[in-house]
Amino acid sequence: MDTFHAAADLGARVSAWRRAGARIGFVPTMGNLHAGHFSLVELARAHADKIIASVFVNPTQFGPSEDFASYPRTLAQDQAGLAAHGCDALFVPAVDAMYPFGAAASVRVEVPGITEILEGELRPGHFAGVATVVTKLFNLVQPDVAVFGQKDYQQLLVIRRMTEDLCLPIRILAAPTRREANGLAMSSRNQYLSSEERDRAAVIYRTLCAMSEQLHAGRSHKVIEADARAALEAAGSVPDYAVIRRASDLTLPDPAEHSGLIALIATRLGRARLIDNLLMGP
Ligand code: PAF
Repeated sequence: MDTFHAAADLGARVSAWRRAGARIGFVPTMGNLHAGHFSLVELARAHADKIIASVFVNPTQFGPSEDFASYPRTLAQDQAGLAAHGCDALFVPAVDAMYPFGAAASVRVEVPGITEILEGELRPGHFAGVATVVTKLFNLVQPDVAVFGQKDYQQLLVIRRMTEDLCLPIRILAAPTRREANGLAMSSRNQYLSSEERDRAAVIYRTLCAMSEQLHAGRSHKVIEADARAALEAAGSVPDYAVIRRASDLTLPDPAEHSGLIALIATRLGRARLIDNLLMGP
């Protein structure tokens, strides 16, 4: 697997692959890769001939008091993991190549509506940063398919909406969330947790499963959400939200709606802010 720092070099490689008739799969990441990321590479591999991953810790999607400076950067380890999982090329652009006029002066891609609620409300500007950098990466890589994790469910919907609205000829695939043995969704930010906090963080998935069971038992959305907050608090975390929404667009369901729903949680535990979700059938 070759690592490219310059977009022109990556572009030459992609052009050669295209001339040979290859379909290009793309997995954008911020690095510090774990089994969850590698499952995205495996899904991409099932839908494309050549797989490109990117590692770019994108400054514009972090708020001023967030962890941009301390976000774990582990490039050598990421390269080894990607190569072992059959990735064909890695793109590692520099910040000033992605933002040639400076991050603050960058053209911004705004996706109205879906970015104004939940994560978007709590992290102002976050999704504009994500949509902007993913648009730039899509332009540079020109993939046929791109894979995003379902753990960041709202991000997945933002990217889908953006791709469709900008008429980008890219198929967006969702990869199921990978979990630790205790149910904790894999995330680079889990390493901010002590081992005791990791054990306690199992409450998140447990609560999502309880929300789903209660929905099937016919309990009201309001009661389910209140119980979920109480369970998260009882485990010593501080919930930002524990809600039931429509899976299609994250709008509020009517009280009588019981299908096509998703439970979403964001909660703070120690130094980490953790998010997770569960689609609730039928
Ligand atoms: O999910 C992530 O790791 C990031 O938000 C992404 C999509 C790579 C954009 O920086």
